[in-house]
Amino acid sequence: MRTYSSRPRKSQTTPRSSSGIPEPPSSDPSTSAKRPLEDSEANRTSKRARPSPGTTKSKPAAKRKQKSLTQLHFCVDQPIIRRCPLCDLRYTKGATEDVALHKVHCARVQKGMEWSKEEEREGYGTSITEVRSRIKLGNGRTGRIISFPADVGGKIGCKLSSLLQTVNVCLSAPPLSKPTLQTSKAYLFLIPQDGPAKSESIVGCVIAQRIETAMDVISLDSSGPRETEESPKRTVEVAGVFCNPQQLPTPMGISRMFVSSKHRRQGIARALLNAAAETFILGCHLDPRQSQIAFSQPTGDGNKVMQDWGGGRIRIYEED
Ligand SMILES: CC(C)(COP(=O)(O)OP(=O)(O)OC[C@H]1O[C@@H](n2cnc3c(N)ncnc32)[C@H](O)[C@@H]1OP(=O)(O)O)[C@@H](O)C(=O)NCCC(=O)NCCS
Ligand SMILES: [Zn+2]
Repeated sequence: MRTYSSRPRKSQTTPRSSSGIPEPPSSDPSTSAKRPLEDSEANRTSKRARPSPGTTKSKPAAKRKQKSLTQLHFCVDQPIIRRCPLCDLRYTKGATEDVALHKVHCARVQKGMEWSKEEEREGYGTSITEVRSRIKLGNGRTGRIISFPADVGGKIGCKLSSLLQTVNVCLSAPPLSKPTLQTSKAYLFLIPQDGPAKSESIVGCVIAQRIETAMDVISLDSSGPRETEESPKRTVEVAGVFCNPQQLPTPMGISRMFVSSKHRRQGIARALLNAAAETFILGCHLDPRQSQIAFSQPTGDGNKVMQDWGGGRIRIYEED
């Protein structure tokens, strides 16, 4: 029986950046996201006693040493690589830089990032459009959705690129290419921050992209097509999802979707997706249940949203 599965995730370690912001894995996540063990391993290796030249020259001394040999044990119960249960990041315990980068990443994953008044002012009436206001969430809080071109510059561009770095680390995904950003819009879900500062927090993000084609997902229910078993060449698997390889015209792709962990299951992803479907193409309301929207490489949670929001009619496309 076919099953959907989450995208195989690589081990995550805190990537480094000169700006002090956690960086996503490079375009080849298999080689980039792993933090080398050299420091600690090398230190441990160098601490191991090696026979000094003097020891081999003086036989009596060597014999005396051999008598006092003791069995050494590796201490394996205290791993130096720690996996944070809150953000899933792996980092080196005790390495100051790693610990600091993890702290920043972890706070962003859980609570989101600040959307300041300066950022709002810079784009208000120009690049930023408020596409939805006063959205009531499941927990009673109220938020709003803004949108702007994903290749925007200035303060807003910097904020988006920091946000996308965090999202890419969480998804073990490569950075979005410049051409992709040029054909994409960012949708951000903002809620007021607690306290007197009157800033907002970005608690959810969807990047919608103009695409040409995508593939239908093969239905999992028993009445659906059975291409996988009968003619395996007629199916392709993308991130554990089986698709019909025929490329069908599809106007919008969702390349990134993320909601900070403390705000999940409140309807934020659904609200962002609705906003993107309704406003991505001016004057054209796209319908996920008419196969007009595709996701790229959905995760396990992404799959659940796909099923719920798109009723099984969301397509899959492959990013450039
Ligand atoms: C996937 C993700 C964006 C969903 O965000 P969200 O705001 O929690 O989603 P919503 O509250 O809008 O959920 C909409 C529906 O999707 C389904 N769903 C979402 N998350 C689910 C989960 N963890 N388990 C089961 N169903 C889930 C439910 O049917 C839900 O409706 P309900 O809460 O009324 O039952 C969020 O879990 C996330 O950021 N995960 C980590 C990053 C990721 O995997 N991104 C997806 C890339 S494709
Ligand atoms: Zn963490």
